[in-house]
Amino acid sequence: MKRRKIIAANWKMYKDLAEANDFITFLLEKLPDTNAEIAIAPSYIALWHAFEATRNYPVEIIAQNLHYAEQGAFTGEVSATQLKSVGIQRVILGHSERREYFGESDALLKKKVQTALKNDLNIIFCVGEQLKDRKAGTQVEVVKSQLQNTLFHLNKNDWQHLVIAYEPVWAIGTGETASPQQAQEMHQHIRETITGTYGSDTAEKLSVIYGGSVKPENASALFVQPDIDGALVGGASLEVDSFVEIIKSI
Ligand code: 13P
Repeated sequence: MKRRKIIAANWKMYKDLAEANDFITFLLEKLPDTNAEIAIAPSYIALWHAFEATRNYPVEIIAQNLHYAEQGAFTGEVSATQLKSVGIQRVILGHSERREYFGESDALLKKKVQTALKNDLNIIFCVGEQLKDRKAGTQVEVVKSQLQNTLFHLNKNDWQHLVIAYEPVWAIGTGETASPQQAQEMHQHIRETITGTYGSDTAEKLSVIYGGSVKPENASALFVQPDIDGALVGGASLEVDSFVEIIKSI
């Protein structure tokens, strides 16, 4: 089964408007030929410009988050409809930084997933265990319960709009990558968990990407694993050259 490959940049709270525009200009000049889908998630302030600048290129501009409500008195939040009004078609949900620093629970994420799908937005949904879970050997159960609590109310058809990103929290921004074997093992577990509920046709079609200190030096070793379909890249996506190298590695 040939699955879609995806390399997505998560810029988090980095880059102002000028920096985001410069990055995109240089990226479009250097963009390598690839079969992978390329996506960039800038901060909200750069979404519109980035979307306009990439309109005729195979680079998708995606959002880092949304609020579950359609609209309302939620100061500082951004809705699915607002994202769609600037052309956005995909959103990252469930990132560990949202879970940890902004208290996003599985229950809240379930609502966000519903809102995204109702608004025809595709989702990169992040799961991943903390260091204490891995030390206790409970990483598989933790990831399984994140999937079950947030996504297993979905219909089989909904899964075509999803990509799962496995991001072990202990590997994010730490320079410590999960080894290709550790990542492959978890990706396989994720696929098996989804097979258990939705069947192997759904699971085999689902792209599962890895995130956590992906860089040019370790990308190829991750990408050759049979269940790793790409990457969600933080730090190494902030420089055009390293992001391009990662794209070339897939
Ligand atoms: P780093 O690549 O900086 O570890 O970040 C990974 C991440 O959180 C992507 O969403």
